[in-house]
Amino acid sequence: MSRMRLSLLLALVAAPALAGAQNLTLKNEAIILPDRGTQFSGPGAEVVNDNCRTCHSAGMVLNQPKMSAAAWRAEAEKMIHVYKAPIDAKDVGAIVAYLAAMRVSQ
Ligand code: HEC
Repeated sequence: MSRMRLSLLLALVAAPALAGAQNLTLKNEAIILPDRGTQFSGPGAEVVNDNCRTCHSAGMVLNQPKMSAAAWRAEAEKMIHVYKAPIDAKDVGAIVAYLAAMRVSQ
């Protein structure tokens, strides 16, 4: 059964059950999901999270081969000019500094 059909079936079954419920109370709950490598972490991570995670997980970027700062700069420029990533030019230096510190070639 396709996902959409299953969702429709659940909606049809669950809706009348919910409509009939008395004293239904909804409340907000905060949950912490496990970090599966989707976010950049550590000092300076915010600018990379803001600019790169639109299209990539942190794991995808950090599992690349180690590269020099110049190579990371070229990578960021490629994202901007080839893939049209909406990255502010003033952020490129901080992005390169973070990535070079995390994934620099020896
Ligand atoms: C607008 C979407 C977009 C954004 C934002 C973006 N990228 Fe990419 N990136 C791509 C695409 C498309 C590819 C090529 C296809 C692929 O490998 O997923 C790619 C590929 C890559 C690769 C693999 C090597 C290569 O050159 O193909 C790396 C590393 C990378 N991106 C890093 C970054 C970093 C670092 C940032 C943030 C500064 C970033 N990307 C932001 C779209 C984006």
